[in-house]
Amino acid sequence: MTLAAPPVITIDGPTASGKGTVAMRVAQALGWHALDSGALYRLTALAVTRAGGDGGDEAQAAAAARALDVVFRDGGIWLDGVEVGNEIRREAISNLASRVAAYPAVRAALLERQRAFRTAPGLVADGRDMGTVIFPDAPLKVFLDADVNERALRRHKQLKDKGFSAKLSDLLEDLRLRDARDRDRVHAPLVAAADAVVVDSSRMGIDETVRKVLDLWSARGLAG
Ligand code: DC
Repeated sequence: MTLAAPPVITIDGPTASGKGTVAMRVAQALGWHALDSGALYRLTALAVTRAGGDGGDEAQAAAAARALDVVFRDGGIWLDGVEVGNEIRREAISNLASRVAAYPAVRAALLERQRAFRTAPGLVADGRDMGTVIFPDAPLKVFLDADVNERALRRHKQLKDKGFSAKLSDLLEDLRLRDARDRDRVHAPLVAAADAVVVDSSRMGIDETVRKVLDLWSARGLAG
């Protein structure tokens, strides 16, 4: 007898659509695990920087991805024993992450690491290709979109709250660039899975969006 794989809810979407916060809150509400897959690409970018690289070498970036010594615990992220949760959110690392994420060898290096998060009682995974590539059999796939201006405002507030300064116009420009890079890349581009439910959160708060995802899950009739 084969045991059914634990359930997964995938939440994909563009940068700063709120998917990370929504995924974490949905995971908490269900008592499930959470996977912030973007963090793995950010950690790879940070590891590349620390090794003196600039992201121009695919093989070096893939080696860094394979060798990541990372611990996710209590909302914190440790790389080689050092807490880097804030550091990987820096704009320079964000941009480098989007570049190394375009390399197929990096994506391949992180594939099994991501699937290993699928343990009982269930997983909420957020990213760009959770529903299309990593967990194609997920029983609920959400594509969380939001207007780019709204996302720039949210990112601006997020950075300010963390004590980083940033210009709104720069953030908007950056988001547009990163969106284009994530959507137009050849390997695992940002796209809604054919069977994903598209949720536009431009005019929705976090609470409402979390409720929407939980309602979608209940409606599947699979909730235990
Ligand atoms: O979700 P995020 O902003 O933390 O992601 C950082 C970068 O990693 C983003 O530019 C796209 C990339 N990424 C990806 O290619 N695939 C994923 N599943 C998650 C993130």
